[in-house]
Amino acid sequence: MNNNIYCIDLGTCNIKVFCKSTGKILNEKNTIAIVNKNQMYAYGDVAYAMYEKAPESIHVTFPIVNGVIADFNNVQTMIFAFLEARAKGKVHGAEYIVAVPTDITEVEKKAFFDLFYKSKVKPKSVLLCEKPIADAAGLGLDVNEPTGVMVVDIGADTTEISVISLGGLVLSDLLHFGGNRLDESIISHIKRTYNLVIGQKTAKSLKETLGSGLPGREESMIIVGRDLVSGLPIELEISAQTVYEAIKDNLSSICNSIKMILEKTPPEVARDIIHAGIYITGGGSLIQGLDELFTQITNIRVNTCESPEETVVRGLIKIISDDKYKRLTFNMKTRLLK
Ligand SMILES: Nc1ncnc2c1ncn2[C@@H]1O[C@H](COP(=O)(O)OP(=O)(O)OP(=O)(O)O)[C@@H](O)[C@H]1O
Ligand SMILES: [Mg+2]
Repeated sequence: MNNNIYCIDLGTCNIKVFCKSTGKILNEKNTIAIVNKNQMYAYGDVAYAMYEKAPESIHVTFPIVNGVIADFNNVQTMIFAFLEARAKGKVHGAEYIVAVPTDITEVEKKAFFDLFYKSKVKPKSVLLCEKPIADAAGLGLDVNEPTGVMVVDIGADTTEISVISLGGLVLSDLLHFGGNRLDESIISHIKRTYNLVIGQKTAKSLKETLGSGLPGREESMIIVGRDLVSGLPIELEISAQTVYEAIKDNLSSICNSIKMILEKTPPEVARDIIHAGIYITGGGSLIQGLDELFTQITNIRVNTCESPEETVVRGLIKIISDDKYKRLTFNMKTRLLK
């Protein structure tokens, strides 16, 4: 079998890439640093380290927004630099399989296809696969079976709630918010409560260290912010309860959407979901106690997984490596000609 294959999940926060020739999954921040308007200065984790710290001459951005390509040229420049340097792969004539969100337009899906198809690397093939299907495969579920499964992927800018059976989507809902919205809520809550301005990286680390789906977590963390009254930087101890207060409304929006999808699920499929439990994945699923919160709301067991940021790319590996899953992929060129 061809060894020159790349499985790619271009997330809003992280790029996850599997390179068949090295057999490794790489996971780096989806960030690019630009100088002189369009010259790439750095990308990935190196560019992210510059975020909120760079001088005006270096512009640090996230070229994927809300799960879709916001800046085509920069994503293209960055992904091939990434594949060549970090994945150490041969990009010319390779096969690419790329995950795309479900509830986006055909034009937005085509942009993911064109990223590789309309590039200088002359790919052998470019296949797309819906993210929830890849998620389910990456969670170790046999997506070809006539068994209903519910997968909730909480990413950085998207939360995708999907019910899958026989390799197709029975129902799905793409919420245009995820971990980034939680960070913003933490920033505004701390500003309101303590008159303290904090950066996005600090908010993110508060969420990742102290975030919880249920009240009662007892840890705390010392952060640095700018006091709005004195204008000076100060240290302050933030409790897990404060973080919980900041994010609880966002979490209950996710709960409401899960409930709405469950209400619309056909009874036979719902029976399978109750039997197997709901699967949660994506980096956001790492919030402590989120599984318990969802169980309290739905009365259904919730399954978590190891390395949830990588389930999509693990699913793509499975789908491209096994002929019985090939039907789960599609080629944008033939789809548009239909
Ligand atoms: N321990 C943790 N607790 C809470 N959130 C976490 C934790 N670890 C990572 N995250 C969050 O997970 C998100 C990244 O997850 P993931 O890589 O699945 O998103 P993505 O695929 O880049 O985004 P999207 O799917 O929305 O395009 C970030 O918002 C990050 O802060
Ligand atoms: Mg994702």
